[in-house]
Amino acid sequence: MPDNLGPLLSEHPATSALELKFRSLLEFKPGDNVLDLGCGNGTTSFYAASKVGPTGSVTGVDISDRFFPEARSWYEQKAEKNDWPPMEFHQHDACDLSSLEALRGKEETFDVITFTRGFGMLKEPQKAVSQWLAYLKPGGLLEFDVGHQRETIAAIVLERVCRKLDIPLDFRMDWIVNENSLVRLLGCAGLIVEEVKLEEGEERYYGLEEWEQMFEDRIVEDRVQLKDDELRQKAKALFKEEWKKAAEDGVRVRESDVCYVLLARKPTEPLGPIELAGGCRCRKVRYTASVSPSPISYCHCQTCRKLSGGPYMPFIDAPSSAVKFEESAALRSYSATEGAERGFCSECGSPIFMKYHNEPDTIGLLMGSIDDESWDEKLHTQEAHIYLREKAPWFKVPDDGWPRHATTTDKGEVE
Ligand SMILES: C[S@@+](CC[C@H](N)C(=O)[O-])C[C@H]1O[C@@H](n2cnc3c(N)ncnc32)[C@H](O)[C@@H]1O
Ligand SMILES: [Zn+2]
Ligand SMILES: [Zn+2]
Repeated sequence: MPDNLGPLLSEHPATSALELKFRSLLEFKPGDNVLDLGCGNGTTSFYAASKVGPTGSVTGVDISDRFFPEARSWYEQKAEKNDWPPMEFHQHDACDLSSLEALRGKEETFDVITFTRGFGMLKEPQKAVSQWLAYLKPGGLLEFDVGHQRETIAAIVLERVCRKLDIPLDFRMDWIVNENSLVRLLGCAGLIVEEVKLEEGEERYYGLEEWEQMFEDRIVEDRVQLKDDELRQKAKALFKEEWKKAAEDGVRVRESDVCYVLLARKPTEPLGPIELAGGCRCRKVRYTASVSPSPISYCHCQTCRKLSGGPYMPFIDAPSSAVKFEESAALRSYSATEGAERGFCSECGSPIFMKYHNEPDTIGLLMGSIDDESWDEKLHTQEAHIYLREKAPWFKVPDDGWPRHATTTDKGEVE
């Protein structure tokens, strides 16, 4: 940090010692161009400015313009006169950057994108991250923090209740399951996670009997709309049950001020297609397939369940022209419905693929048919549960954080 900026930064209204400690976990280099999303009053923007120096730049974006006057006037009064980098602030939704005029033509120009103390507010974090990637230079860093599952325990309990009762919520926490779920979320968006740091704070404990107060507080804080008293009573009863389950020792519920700070890098080169090999159990059907990173869908439809004998069939899409059958004497196909054809081995019964007649260019390969040795984790971009409307009544869909669709991925989410 240039000498003259230290005292200035500490004068910024939101830069307490604790906040500075948190921000010191972020990485900026002199000359970096930084895009600070959800910048609020610019605490991170100004911290970044002090690190990137006059040869860098900082662009702040926030959906609300509540704090901009403060950030702008602070910049004008203090920073501009002291050789800080150029800084600008824009009011816009960080989930829709493509419509922000100020960023037009700025694709691949940022060295660092940050979203501090607000990432958990995003409804579709993976989609947002995939979009931000376009603005990062190859090799650039995405840096953000999210509350640990222990920090947000009351909100998580509330979310479970609302999900069970089909009550709409303004936020989604179900993708924060643990450190791995975050790493996977970023990996699926096409980033390579370099570091996950834990920032630890204080711990608090709540008694089991405090459930009612917690419920009332959360309902107000998270602006949950309960349409009538009957729904309210149901939600309350469920909250009590879930609150009890959240007590690790059966007596108290632990809440801690802990957050994950993630640093993830955009790969320097885009990933090309990967050669997969696969086939059936008896090896009378064998294929090779050239597959680019693409989503895996878990289809819970009744046909998939009957044909697999399991709760769902997992598919990855491959271009039809890139799938070559090397052994196919035993390959047969079956059409359970008019719209689609399914390939299987007539000797051992293994399912191999599914193909929709109206999408002849794509073939859905059964994940289980792919040889383990040929699988490459880089192919893993995204997952989704589909056709949950036909899900097995005995199957509990795990809290894996993946999008859940009643039918196909372009329809609304359920559960
Ligand atoms: C708790 S504040 C954090 C501000 C600042 N980044 C910091 O670390 O001090 C969260 C900010 O995220 C903003 N925010 C939430 N959702 C957003 C979105 N979709 N697009 C842009 N900003 C958003 C809010 O308006 C708020 O200013
Ligand atoms: Zn076979
Ligand atoms: Zn299906």
